[in-house]
Amino acid sequence: ASLPVITIDGSSGAGKGTLTARLAKLLDYQILDSGAVYRIVGLAAHQAGLLTDNIDETALADLTQSLKIEFAAAKADSEHVTVLVNANDVSEVIRTEEVGNFASKVAVFPKVRQALLELQKNMATSQGNPKKGLIADGRDMGTVVFPDATLKVYLVASSEARAARRVSQLTHAGKQADFDEILAQIIARDERDSTRSASPAKAADDAIVIDSSAIDAEQVFNQVWQLCVERG
Ligand code: C5P
Repeated sequence: ASLPVITIDGSSGAGKGTLTARLAKLLDYQILDSGAVYRIVGLAAHQAGLLTDNIDETALADLTQSLKIEFAAAKADSEHVTVLVNANDVSEVIRTEEVGNFASKVAVFPKVRQALLELQKNMATSQGNPKKGLIADGRDMGTVVFPDATLKVYLVASSEARAARRVSQLTHAGKQADFDEILAQIIARDERDSTRSASPAKAADDAIVIDSSAIDAEQVFNQVWQLCVERG
């Protein structure tokens, strides 16, 4: 049977992850972190030497098909869901900006996107998901993967606000972070994600667009929670 779905799309750093985790906990829904799925494919493609100047789409799609991708509950010390590839835990290694960039390179190919469709759709069924529903976070959850979702949110924020958040996340984690470098990476990745022809990042016609540049995670959550309550 199909389960209720909430989609949270938008660019990286707009606060999708935080919002998704909080809603999932309150509603007892499963999380689909589709960005993690593309990150896994990006990393695998890089490791297989496929990210050349002249990428072989068929080889990339074959590689994508061959990966066994599984999700598990987040570990206590992590803000992200646990993701396994061929039974290896890659939850942390896929989180770098470099892997985000690999992900956005492989994500332009329709055959790669197609190869990931069933895995994603399956998570909105009771066979593929033990919880009461699904919160799917990504770029095309509301437009392509779950067009019939009960609630669609599209989170935006200025590049500067997103870069500032990323810098503070990295600093908190004890890592080095250069604002200008991160800002440039964010702008380049957004450009590729929003101008590609296959499932570009964009709000569905029936999505609620929220700009988080000037409001904090708590305020974003409150607005979305209000919508959840209104829609039952
Ligand atoms: O959200 P996150 O930064 O983890 O996503 C990494 C990359 O994966 C994005 O920049 C985008 O290119 C790709 N992606 C996508 N479709 C999705 C989710 C992510 O193309 N639904």
